[in-house]
Amino acid sequence: MIEKLQHKYALSRQGAIDMLKACASVTITNIALMMPAGILYTLINDLLNDRLNRERIPFYVAASIVVLILVAVTNYIQYNATFLTTYRESGIRRTAIAEKLRKLPLSYFGKKNIADLTTNIMGDCAMIETASSHWIPELIGAVVSVILVGVSLFFFFDWRMVLASFWVIPVAFLIVITCSDAEKRAVRKNQEVKLSMADGIQECLESIRDLRANNAQDRYMEELDQKIKKVEKFALFTELKMAVYVNSAAIILKIGIGTTAVVGGSLFAKGEIDLLTFFMFLMLVSRLYAPMEISLQNFAAIIATGIQCERLDEVLSHEIQNGSDSLENDGYDIIFDHVGFKYSDDTEVLKDVSFTAKQGQVTALIGPSGGGKTTISRLAARFWDVNSGKITLGGEDISDVDPETLLSNYSIVFQDVTLFNNSVMENIRIGKSGATDEEVMEAARLANCDEFINNLPEKYHTNIGENGSELSGGERQRISIARAFLKDAPIILLDEATASLDAENETVIQEALTRLIKNKTVMIIAHRMRTIAGADHIVVLKDGVVAEQGSPEFLSGYDSIYSRMTKQQMVSQDWKIK
Ligand SMILES: Nc1ncnc2c1ncn2[C@@H]1O[C@H](COP(=O)(O)OP(=O)(O)OP(=O)(O)O)[C@@H](O)[C@H]1O
Ligand SMILES: [Mg+2]
Repeated sequence: MIEKLQHKYALSRQGAIDMLKACASVTITNIALMMPAGILYTLINDLLNDRLNRERIPFYVAASIVVLILVAVTNYIQYNATFLTTYRESGIRRTAIAEKLRKLPLSYFGKKNIADLTTNIMGDCAMIETASSHWIPELIGAVVSVILVGVSLFFFFDWRMVLASFWVIPVAFLIVITCSDAEKRAVRKNQEVKLSMADGIQECLESIRDLRANNAQDRYMEELDQKIKKVEKFALFTELKMAVYVNSAAIILKIGIGTTAVVGGSLFAKGEIDLLTFFMFLMLVSRLYAPMEISLQNFAAIIATGIQCERLDEVLSHEIQNGSDSLENDGYDIIFDHVGFKYSDDTEVLKDVSFTAKQGQVTALIGPSGGGKTTISRLAARFWDVNSGKITLGGEDISDVDPETLLSNYSIVFQDVTLFNNSVMENIRIGKSGATDEEVMEAARLANCDEFINNLPEKYHTNIGENGSELSGGERQRISIARAFLKDAPIILLDEATASLDAENETVIQEALTRLIKNKTVMIIAHRMRTIAGADHIVVLKDGVVAEQGSPEFLSGYDSIYSRMTKQQMVSQDWKIK
């Protein structure tokens, strides 16, 4: 039971136990709240039958005190169990999702967009939070207490009156259950259009620069406007649908008042029940149906929450990249052994790639744009797992190693640099957590960042804006190189690391790189032939296979793709706008 709850509502074990406690305390509170009506009934009965004497009064006083204490205690337990623990549980759930996202393979993020994941963490969690703190305990509490009251009335009073007043409750719930599939469909569709809108807004904000540059703002805003209107339309439609289901169930509840009155009236007329019992049932139905209506709404909302639970479960149960926490490598040679890879199910980016990036050597990957160079560097760091063949590091298959353990051996400079909305110091320190300020500054100096950082208003403590928006392309790239210097790992992957640098900066950084890469395994990707001129081994990629490989001298010795690329670049260097 606990495990089922855990799975269904993305709860921790403690969270599931707390939810059961909350249900129990809501039930007890509900029953305690009904007890005054019972006491009142007995009191009126005593009064009518002239039985209220000195001996009975202490009983009423004691019963009233017990009820008061019970209500206070259960209210406290309910508050504690429903509110406090659920919010703690929400924290646990959000952390669990964040932890899971950290471990998911990057292929997962390729299939999902950021808006979807943000909705997962914020929106879905908030919805489940309300469901587990309010809707579920309140519904279970209401249903269980109504059943208990119904059963006791059935045995201690008149079963016909119980049937006359209670029959509507299961029928009303049955209506909501019957409509649950249609409701889920509407909620799912609603969610889809909302996600599409969130995605559109995010994309618009991210690409505002390009939209303006291409005069495409109006066209884009029109599309976004359509998406927003669609959300409005579906939200109204879903609300309306839910209202129809819940209201028709609520109308059925109202019929119960009529049947109680008719059955009670005829039984009273026949003298089979007394006036007080008749009156009590009428009072009961008027008291009982209002909370039942709220329970029906809660029930419909819980059914809708099922969609959010499914979405969270999809993230939480997605397979992660596992592997051993220790690396049993012998040296740091990286070997690609007949590697095949595709990002999604259709195009094969790499068909059959085999080469060795030796420790102590610089291996350069070159080839036409889209040829798979970046893909190879990502696979070497196990950002994705290969589809066929294998990649080994020092003889160990990297798919057997935990990605975090593996990555501790890599310094990577990506083609697209990501910076954080933080100070320059912290942005570089990401390379090695716990590095001292002096270490950070030394790395920055090596990466030729020192000069521009010292010109910033607060030097190393200057905030560089979201994704380093306040820096130039070359400055961003140098910060990324400084990170790699700071990490100083045995394997270095440089993907167009110096592409945005001017010749002067590139020369300085290359000198520093030469010192950094001593005895390390270096894989370098560059379009500029000048950058890779000093490489030991060159791998030319074309159409998903290694078209040729060897030392620069060997490849220059015949009419290879490499020598043609080198010649072409010489020509293009002389190219001018006429
Ligand atoms: N995340 C991704 N999801 C799906 N396809 C991708 C992804 N990244 C790259 N691709 C595709 O894989 C192919 C190889 O891309 P890759 O980035 O490895 O090329 P590249 O050789 O580095 O190109 P460039 O020189 O332009 O940087 C391209 O056809 C590209 O469209
Ligand atoms: Mg690339």
